Amino acid sequence: MIEKINRLLEEVASLTATDEKALEELRIKYLSKKGELNALMAEFRNVPAEQKREMGQRLNGLKTAITEKLAELRAAVATTDASHDDLDLTRTAYPIPLGTRHPLSIVKNEIIDIFSRLGFSLADGPEIEDDWHVFSSMNFAPDHPARDMQDTFFVEQQPDIVLRTHTSSVQSRVMETTQPPIRVICPGRVYRNEAISARAHCFFHQVEGLYVDKDVSFTDLKQVLLTFAREMFGADTRIRLRPSYFPFTEPSAEMDISCNICGGKGCGFCKHTGWVEILGCGMVDPAVLDANGIDSKVYKGYAFGMGVERITNLKYQVSDLRLFSENDVRFLDEFISAN
Ligand code: PHE
Repeated sequence: MIEKINRLLEEVASLTATDEKALEELRIKYLSKKGELNALMAEFRNVPAEQKREMGQRLNGLKTAITEKLAELRAAVATTDASHDDLDLTRTAYPIPLGTRHPLSIVKNEIIDIFSRLGFSLADGPEIEDDWHVFSSMNFAPDHPARDMQDTFFVEQQPDIVLRTHTSSVQSRVMETTQPPIRVICPGRVYRNEAISARAHCFFHQVEGLYVDKDVSFTDLKQVLLTFAREMFGADTRIRLRPSYFPFTEPSAEMDISCNICGGKGCGFCKHTGWVEILGCGMVDPAVLDANGIDSKVYKGYAFGMGVERITNLKYQVSDLRLFSENDVRFLDEFISAN
């Protein structure tokens, strides 16, 4: 048996194969059920017990030699086989279908990009917030309707823990830990208890901005917002500010831009007014500065807040808000070119 093994070892060492067919024949000859190796295994059963150990090792050695040799020949055949002459090794392994960025992310990133060029940095905060950061520190009176169960999702009561209804809570967190100058934008998801429809959803996204320093004026706010509107919607865009009310700003305003669909002439989208509303803004109420540890006798500030869905609608005319959260690939694919 030893002789047989040695003879096979020599034979295997000098094997050659030029194509797949020859390789397969070798595999059958040595490794198949009726092959050489199995024949030896059958003989092995009759080997006297005291020789089993040595013979077993030799047999294993032979098995390894055969499998390694066949693997080596297989690799050689694969690179020389004429049928692979047209191999283009520079080609991408397979077409990788790339995903697209979500339209809300595209627009959010654009907003962030514009404000970072104006010197604003990013701030972040939790979506599950306490009443202080969402309402009290923002000058909401204890009986303000926005605290009502109608609008706010309560996670716990007394003390109240809520899903933030606006990212102003992040402004509060920044002010309580930073002294002016402060120049931040706070992008994030917010929640309001509204029935889901084409025009409303129980969550949406905001980007709020806060600027606090000495001698900050409404004019500064207006210029920053005009620059933003023109960067976002085109150089011809006009803005107008209408008086409004927010508990945390005084004076407060809502900003419209000239309708970017009809250019201000009037169309169905702007309800024939030529204007569309895009954000709320105002001078930070001194009570808010004081509540958050900033001396309102020394510092002033402005703030603004916009809905990312709203801006995205204006840019891409998405008719149904629900499309943003359904992740229908047909909808998302429409934004490939915007990526
Ligand atoms: N927080 C306001 C909202 O959610 C938006 C806003 C922010 C308005 C800052 C004025 C100033 O509607």
